Amino acid sequence: MSITTADADYVRELVRERSAIVIDASKTYLIESRLGPVVRSAGLGSIEELISRMRRERTGPLADLVVDAMTTNETFFFRDATLWAAIEKQIVPQLKTARQAQRALTVWCAACSSGQEPYSIAMMLIDRFPDVARDWNVRIIATDLSAEMLGRAAAGRYTQLEVNRGLPAVALAKHFRRDGAFWQISDQVRSMVEFRTINLIQPWPFIPAVDLLMLRNVLIYFDTDTKKQVLARARTVLRPDGHLVLGTSETTLNLDERYARIVTDNATTYQPR
Ligand SMILES: C[S@@+](CC[C@H](N)C(=O)[O-])C[C@H]1O[C@@H](n2cnc3c(N)ncnc32)[C@H](O)[C@@H]1O
Repeated sequence: MSITTADADYVRELVRERSAIVIDASKTYLIESRLGPVVRSAGLGSIEELISRMRRERTGPLADLVVDAMTTNETFFFRDATLWAAIEKQIVPQLKTARQAQRALTVWCAACSSGQEPYSIAMMLIDRFPDVARDWNVRIIATDLSAEMLGRAAAGRYTQLEVNRGLPAVALAKHFRRDGAFWQISDQVRSMVEFRTINLIQPWPFIPAVDLLMLRNVLIYFDTDTKKQVLARARTVLRPDGHLVLGTSETTLNLDERYARIVTDNATTYQPR
């Protein structure tokens, strides 16, 4: 399905306005490939028809589907082994000491995609910090813009390919059961995670003070001003000794000088100064 320049620009503008995701001209092929399934599921004949329908009802459900389809949802369990080793060996132990009086820990995965990241945290706490998982008030808040991804995340059902990516065999055996062609995560793990819709560029609902903020592999899709705005708002929800975690290709450098860069066992996190 090929798309006219005017229609591609229309989609680009809509997606940028609703999600801040920037699709530059070299990525027009992405618009074509991602909108094909939307055209088919809406029972339409072409991208042209889809876009002319959207031009008539810009705020309707079709526009939501189009924005959702343009999100990139790549993720996997325990993504970035160096980071997860640092979280397990240094960051959670530090937080555990610091929060001993309150016995409360709040994690926010702010672009959780299909849920592998928040479930990795829950499994790590159950396996390595059983007293925290059992006795503390642990909140793992997992949010995303994509309704489709949040639905998949909340279901906790993964394909063989997905559980093959990053998940240790012992964790698969302990925390999942086979369900036909899928693997279903246990109720114990699933019940530790709360899923909600939050669009990072719209006003945020109340978020409790956060100890660990996973904001990984989402800033890369935004322009510089949006990155700055999101990082500044992230500071307002982080505890002073809390950690912000970005993706390996992301940084606060030249965007927000009010974060201190902390290197722990080769993994970088950021703390408000
Ligand atoms: C590549 S995934 C990152 C998943 C996970 N954090 C990781 O690093 O493995 C990026 C996610 O950001 C979400 N996203 C994009 N724009 C967003 C926005 N404005 N607000 C909230 N989430 C957004 C997408 O829906 C997608 O699920």
